[in-house]
Amino acid sequence: MATPDEIALVRERAEIVNLVSRYVSVRKAGKNFVALCPFHPDKNPSMTVSPEKNLFHCFACGEGGDIFKFLMKIENLSFPEAVEKIAAEVGVKLSRAERSAPSKFDAYKELNEKICQHFQKNLFNSAGQKAFEYLKHRGFLIETMKKFRLGYSMGAWDDLLRNFPKDKELLNTLGLTVPSKESHSYDRFRDRLIFPIFSGQGDVIGFAGRALSEADEPKYLNISNTPLFEKGHVLYGLNFARNTASEQKCFVMVEGYADVIAAHQANFTNVVASMGTALTSEQARLIKRYAPLVILAYDRDAAGQAATWRGIRNLSNEGLDVEIALLPVDEDPDNFIKTKGPDAFRKILDDARPFHQFYVQYLIETNNAHSGAGKQKILQEAIAFIKGIVNSARRHEMIRELASQVSIPDEEIALLVRNAPDASKTASATERTTTTQTTPQSRPILQNQISLGPEEHLLYFLFQGHLSVPRVARALEATQFVKYPEIARVLYEVGSQERWKLDQLLEQLSPDDQTIVRGLMLTELSFSSVDKAIADAMTQIKLKYLEEHLRKLNTQIAQAERSGDKEIVKQLQAKIIANRKEQSILKRLQEGGI
Ligand code: UTP
Ligand code: MN
Repeated sequence: MATPDEIALVRERAEIVNLVSRYVSVRKAGKNFVALCPFHPDKNPSMTVSPEKNLFHCFACGEGGDIFKFLMKIENLSFPEAVEKIAAEVGVKLSRAERSAPSKFDAYKELNEKICQHFQKNLFNSAGQKAFEYLKHRGFLIETMKKFRLGYSMGAWDDLLRNFPKDKELLNTLGLTVPSKESHSYDRFRDRLIFPIFSGQGDVIGFAGRALSEADEPKYLNISNTPLFEKGHVLYGLNFARNTASEQKCFVMVEGYADVIAAHQANFTNVVASMGTALTSEQARLIKRYAPLVILAYDRDAAGQAATWRGIRNLSNEGLDVEIALLPVDEDPDNFIKTKGPDAFRKILDDARPFHQFYVQYLIETNNAHSGAGKQKILQEAIAFIKGIVNSARRHEMIRELASQVSIPDEEIALLVRNAPDASKTASATERTTTTQTTPQSRPILQNQISLGPEEHLLYFLFQGHLSVPRVARALEATQFVKYPEIARVLYEVGSQERWKLDQLLEQLSPDDQTIVRGLMLTELSFSSVDKAIADAMTQIKLKYLEEHLRKLNTQIAQAERSGDKEIVKQLQAKIIANRKEQSILKRLQEGGI
């Protein structure tokens, strides 16, 4: 492990905004940056990232910390792993880098990487000539094949086992070999064109293999779920598309691997694929990390299917805007780009229209709008759908569209929508329970806009550098903080040193207190007079404390009276009088009477 000094140096050199922006789109807001929190289903940007404080903090779920914490959470790493990774990036050599034992995931990724290279090599060997010619024939350039790291799997049943004999178990785990009854496993991909599947960060997490002849079924063979690859949680091409998508604030979603590759080759670099299944909420959340809009450029057949609508509902429920681009019948983007050219494809994308227009049309076409039962069915489906749309303008558009199609007044439909059971809420609530690992629970929530009390104000001024710790310590005892005595105590302890560091404070606090501290550090408040606000906060803290104390004295005195201890009653009475007097002085002070 690295020494504390080295860790501090890494933290100092690393830029948290830079790291965070690799996983979510960040937007500048004052001194800080804001982003949708990747650690809980977030509809508005609840996460603040402060380059100055080198911290991130989610005001909705309470998650937060430094650059290491962010990397640990998002990449599922241990602390030493996160330190090592960032140290390497910022060029800090760690003295005792007796590498922490690599995690299971590292071993998985490492083997996938080797296998990917193996397949790539095959493609450019004589063995892979057929596959290579096939790709060339389909118009893929060598540079494109290299970028997408396309490969070829040999025809043998034991090619991988022979080339990676030590990794027999891992090959099964990663879905590259299939265990069989006779204790032997065999290669899953034989004589196939290989498409490696990447994580958003570009690690190889899985593979798909395309048949090279019509007779070979299925056309695409996919690995099953593995520890690195979970169907429905991945978007093919995300690693290549996320930067452009973030800049253009839009993704284009296609169905297949070939479509993504053809689109990127034609310079549509914000294209990703759902890989043949209905889009899931997980995929929606991935998209939303980078862009608010997604244009679906699906095959016409697929666009009209129920599974597609289910997927769109998932996108919509996560607050994404969805548009549909209409390709000619029987064309997919790959075909279309190659036969009609990039400009024609650009036009198709530019002409994309909001999904609800198509959805209402689809419902009308698939049900009999003239029969009572048909109308009922249309309404039922459409209303459940509308209920899930987050964008209110889009919701109203769809209500209008539906109203005109079924000849029912807008207001009546709006009413039906309002009274309908909230299906989207219950759906996302059940989803949420499956992702609880990433959603911290029972943390106090510090919203940007909640009314902050005097203790929060004072700590805020302190963290913003308007006040020194000794000055606060001279004015207030730690115990006078009714809400945060522990924060004050630790602060007084570390803050007595000349140049105290935030980490020293955070290290010693409970998770709840850490959340409060980070929240206050990253909040931006404005005051007409900071000095007055500081004075007010101090007075009010004292007053609150005195009130609290008075309550205690009153209980004690009642007890003393019951037990007839006159001496104590007397002492307590004196204290109560002193307390009241102090309170009245403070109140007059506060009203400007002194
Ligand atoms: P398509 O059948 O439209 O294939 O399936 P495609 O992408 O146009 O492929 P090419 O152009 O013929 O090479 C679309 C997507 O559905 C998934 C794959 O992700 C594919 O890219 N799929 C399709 C499968 O997973 N298995 C299959 O057997 C077929
Ligand atoms: Mn195709």
